[in-house]
Amino acid sequence: MEKLTRRRALCVLGAPVIAAATGAGLASAGDPGEGMHGMEHGATPGATYGAHAGAAHAGFAGAALVDPAVNGFDPSELVRDFDWGRTRRLASGRVLREWELIAEDKEFQVAPGVSFAGWVYNGRVPGPTLRAREGELLRIRFLNASAHPHTIHFHGIHPSFMDGIPDIGAGLIRTGGSTVYEFDARPFGLHLYHCHAGPLAAHIAKGLYGAFIVDPRQGRRDADELVMVMNAFDTNFDQANEVYAVNTVGFHYLYRPVRVKREEPVRIYLVNILEFDPINSFHIHANFFHYYPTGTSLAPSEYTDTIVQAQGQRGILELAFPYPGKYMFHAHKTEFAELGWMGFFEVEP
Ligand code: CU
Ligand code: CU
Repeated sequence: MEKLTRRRALCVLGAPVIAAATGAGLASAGDPGEGMHGMEHGATPGATYGAHAGAAHAGFAGAALVDPAVNGFDPSELVRDFDWGRTRRLASGRVLREWELIAEDKEFQVAPGVSFAGWVYNGRVPGPTLRAREGELLRIRFLNASAHPHTIHFHGIHPSFMDGIPDIGAGLIRTGGSTVYEFDARPFGLHLYHCHAGPLAAHIAKGLYGAFIVDPRQGRRDADELVMVMNAFDTNFDQANEVYAVNTVGFHYLYRPVRVKREEPVRIYLVNILEFDPINSFHIHANFFHYYPTGTSLAPSEYTDTIVQAQGQRGILELAFPYPGKYMFHAHKTEFAELGWMGFFEVEP
């Protein structure tokens, strides 16, 4: 049985976009034993994508979507979902902010009919976007309900024993185990967290990561805030990705555009966690944004329409849309875009 390789995936997943040049056939892709469960002989994706390919000429219409009910999470909701946890004031007057994160094994779809046997924090990929204010004390209780050992490693400034790596502090948390990570919210900016168990590439690629935002003490100006975690999935475990996305589901925002309002400030918290490929990028059509690398300065470093990020890099984009209409955003790496990493903003008048 022929495996669904990266190149074949390009033919298949890219079909809605790159049109019907190949006939979008998917008669024999996928090895049911290796993750592309939905892509077996005669399975629906081939027919589905084949059917779409014709519609592609008419402009991306009529695509099948991953049913959010199947995954238990919806990229259209994740994009504006910030988890502030619970707070209480300590005797010192300082705010203690707390969350609970649970690691689990979970199968979810990264494209219609394409299942991925992943590992997740709190049932979703990316994990919850944890948000705090500079100077608070943060406490994260971590439970491992997965069949594999995991940790949570936070970016930020903290003592080594809170760093969530093997053999230091609580070290690896085994199945059924738990620990508490506690540290100060600093520096302000856009950070991330991810599992740091080995082999690291596998533990990240399986889905154990999320965004971690520390707001400056004085806050940021009001804006319509979005979180976009650029990720990808190696659906046949060949150390190369077959599906690329923002917030996990390839092409999601192509078919369910991110709706924003004309002239309203938009702030995008953009994180790159992409495994296996050295660099990712973000490009917006017909507009420019101010870019704040790592979000650690209140002065932007650049006014541009394209930025690149290596794995673990992140930054804040601020922009407004002067005209109504639909505007693409995508990786300015055509291959990634055609494998799922593209979407639309829909600007309401
Ligand atoms: Cu892990
Ligand atoms: Cu990291």
